[in-house]
Amino acid sequence: MKHSSLQIIRDEHASLAAMLQSMRMLVQRGTAGQAQLFFEVLRAMLFYIDEFPERLHHPKESNLLFPRLVRQEPSVMGAVDRLEREHMQSEKAVRDLQHLLLAWELLGESRRVCFEGALSEYVDAYLEHMRLEESEILPVAEKMLSQEDWRELDAEFEKNADPLTGKHPPGPEFEKLFSRIVMKAPAPIGLGA
Ligand SMILES: [Fe+2]
Ligand SMILES: [Fe+2]
Repeated sequence: MKHSSLQIIRDEHASLAAMLQSMRMLVQRGTAGQAQLFFEVLRAMLFYIDEFPERLHHPKESNLLFPRLVRQEPSVMGAVDRLEREHMQSEKAVRDLQHLLLAWELLGESRRVCFEGALSEYVDAYLEHMRLEESEILPVAEKMLSQEDWRELDAEFEKNADPLTGKHPPGPEFEKLFSRIVMKAPAPIGLGA
């Protein structure tokens, strides 16, 4: 693939999908007698999504990729509309999940089902969102955008350096959070059993 930004978007999707699947697996398995560890790692994962994809990945798609693409190829407008709406909702969705998790941790079992339902909906919606971008947006972008567009997109996406893709060491700010997730979360994202 010739454009680094396209590769970066796909890599970030893949690592986010792995993170979402790990979360789903953790929750299916339940606290397994280790409630403190369970809540700690889930909290770290949700916080990470809030800090990384929500702040770096989505805004760059919304601000740099989508507008250029709609100008070149108005037929993608329907898909872009939907994806934009999802970008606008997803930051709130991950905050809501953090709150629902806290409710389960602090108020107990009666709040578990509520968190489980919200997480499952969130994971399904996010996976579908990325699938739509990869099937309807990226191939069209590859065909339609100019060299100048790509220069700008590549430069901006290269700044993301998401450590979860496995291609960049975490910066000092993220190191502790990242190693906490990797050491304790189950595969595919982490090394935990
Ligand atoms: Fe997106
Ligand atoms: Fe994306």
